[in-house]
Amino acid sequence: MFEINQSATVGTIEQYQSLTSQLAALTAGEPDIIANLANISAVLFDQIENLNWLGFYVMKQGELVLGPFQGKVACVRIPVGQGVCGTAVATGEIQRVENVHDFAGHIACDSASESELVLPIKHHGKVVAVLDIDSPSQGRFSELDQQGMSLMLPLLESLNWDTYAK
Ligand code: SME
Repeated sequence: MFEINQSATVGTIEQYQSLTSQLAALTAGEPDIIANLANISAVLFDQIENLNWLGFYVMKQGELVLGPFQGKVACVRIPVGQGVCGTAVATGEIQRVENVHDFAGHIACDSASESELVLPIKHHGKVVAVLDIDSPSQGRFSELDQQGMSLMLPLLESLNWDTYAK
């Protein structure tokens, strides 16, 4: 069984680099994207402090559909352009929201969420999914957290997205 580094919370770029390396080792040689997304969400939720929800929404037939995640039951479908996740798809840009109550159209799946970081995942030039990270604390995600999480994008974008059921 793969042993994940039991370090405390992730807060520096070096720790995000180390976490990225651990995810690369965890997924290496495994072609099943759902298994990989499930394990990635488990590791990230376990290793990053002060989160209430972390998971993937995947583009299917023009809208986001809930994928592997950790946390409470969540909304299943999010239209492109709606909420923080749908905005990440529409713009192709990372969304870092200090206070979700100030974000027009924020979708409150888990009422505990106060701040949010959403990373669009691109494959063959198109957004195929987002990684949505929610915290119960306002302002939880700094510029450094955004940069650190961005280090994982090449790995996330290299997964077998073509094999995720369309
Ligand atoms: N808050 C998100 C919806 C997903 S849940 O937080 C899990 C949004 O506004 O897109």
